[in-house]
Amino acid sequence: MQSGAVPVLGEPGEAEFELPAATSADVFPSDFTWGASTSAYQVEGAAAADGRLPSIWDTFSHTPGAILNGDNGDVACDHYHRWREDVALLAQLGTGAYRFSVSWPRILPNGTGPVNAKGLDWYERLVDGLLECGIQPWLTLYHWDLPQPLEDAGGWPNRATADAFVRFAEVVASRLGDRIHTWMTLNEPWCSAFLGYQLGMHAPGRRDDALALRAAHTLLLAHGRATQALRGIVTGARVGIVLNPTPVQPATPTEADAAAARRADGYFNRWFLDPLFGRGYPADMLEAVAPLFTPPSDSDLRSIGTHIDVLGINYYRPTVVRAKPGAYLGFEEAPPDAEPVTAMDWVVRPEGLRELLVRINHDYPVPPMAITENGAAYTDAAPTDGQLHDPERIRYLAGHVDAVAQAISAGVPVTGYFVWSFLDNFEWAWGYGSRFGLVHVDYATQQRTIKDSGRWYQRLIAQQTA
Ligand code: FCB
Repeated sequence: MQSGAVPVLGEPGEAEFELPAATSADVFPSDFTWGASTSAYQVEGAAAADGRLPSIWDTFSHTPGAILNGDNGDVACDHYHRWREDVALLAQLGTGAYRFSVSWPRILPNGTGPVNAKGLDWYERLVDGLLECGIQPWLTLYHWDLPQPLEDAGGWPNRATADAFVRFAEVVASRLGDRIHTWMTLNEPWCSAFLGYQLGMHAPGRRDDALALRAAHTLLLAHGRATQALRGIVTGARVGIVLNPTPVQPATPTEADAAAARRADGYFNRWFLDPLFGRGYPADMLEAVAPLFTPPSDSDLRSIGTHIDVLGINYYRPTVVRAKPGAYLGFEEAPPDAEPVTAMDWVVRPEGLRELLVRINHDYPVPPMAITENGAAYTDAAPTDGQLHDPERIRYLAGHVDAVAQAISAGVPVTGYFVWSFLDNFEWAWGYGSRFGLVHVDYATQQRTIKDSGRWYQRLIAQQTA
């Protein structure tokens, strides 16, 4: 760990360290939350420590061909053992909040059944360590690591998984409820359902349209019921969900592409936002998936529409689609056009974030929103002399912070911004090759090095909280 001395920032005036104009214009209120995010499977490692059993991601990442370079999360950033050093780094960056997730298979190794006290003890130590440093813990219950036995019993398409999730929420809330104010039930249920059960790109690697729709429904039901359970245990809890909505544009102004964009918007966005805000599933989409999905009961829809106190938005890029007759819902993503892309070929378009926030605020009765993830993978060079220059990441982040400022100025209630990610980590199917961190991790030595982007973020937070 660094000695605790504040690291040397880039000189003001150095172009790459410039802060977005909006940050000097009093747009962000003084109680705005500046944070950084991770998730359990991506950083913790210690896959078999202290009673933890496999999740679907342990199984999937050990499946030949599933992950780039055959990587897996067995060790990851070894955050499980290095959390003290990592909390000190978060404090050094000046983050006011740390968004992390709880590994379900550490707490309930079989998904149901006996509670593993050692797992709960570890999260309690982490949370206490954060609070001692004045960092607010933002806890996500589910960031994709379903205990494998629950998958063996049918996974998210099985309604019983919602019951198991509610119990998991209750167990965690009973232990940490006196210390955690902000609770997120699920991270990006679109990914869990459709990348996991329809496209086979994420765990559990299934490819079945109907199963994916059922998975999405069980996830939403689990969210609504867990929200109620959390409120019953934690007085004054602020409870929400994290989505990954995307602004969808047609590739061309043709009628066919416009219709494709409308369906893509239904698939990515409205399928989740409409029922969460009490409207049930969108009628045009129910019609489009009619042979595959039976509309659920009103009682399920009432649970899903349970009031939330905060909506987490993860934004990385916009989506451009074009018509593709015969494809599921009749569309496909168009390849990136002339705009800049990240190392993962994700289009960089900060205005997409502003448009998305304005649109969601216009179309839905939203509670305060927080940008719970935003960031970019670039091919960073290895650090030299304790420094790593990543000007592209700084530009990406600055552009998006500006976009948030513009949304706030347009009247959208955004109260927090979290960079993805605090640390370089296991980027799911992309393995360790895609680095998103403010802090570089040398996976051979587990050495951490604050990147220029981390120093830039430190300066931004210092300026905003002065
Ligand atoms: C999001 C995930 C997060 C991370 C980023 C890059 O979809 O929530 O875990 O992988 O993408």
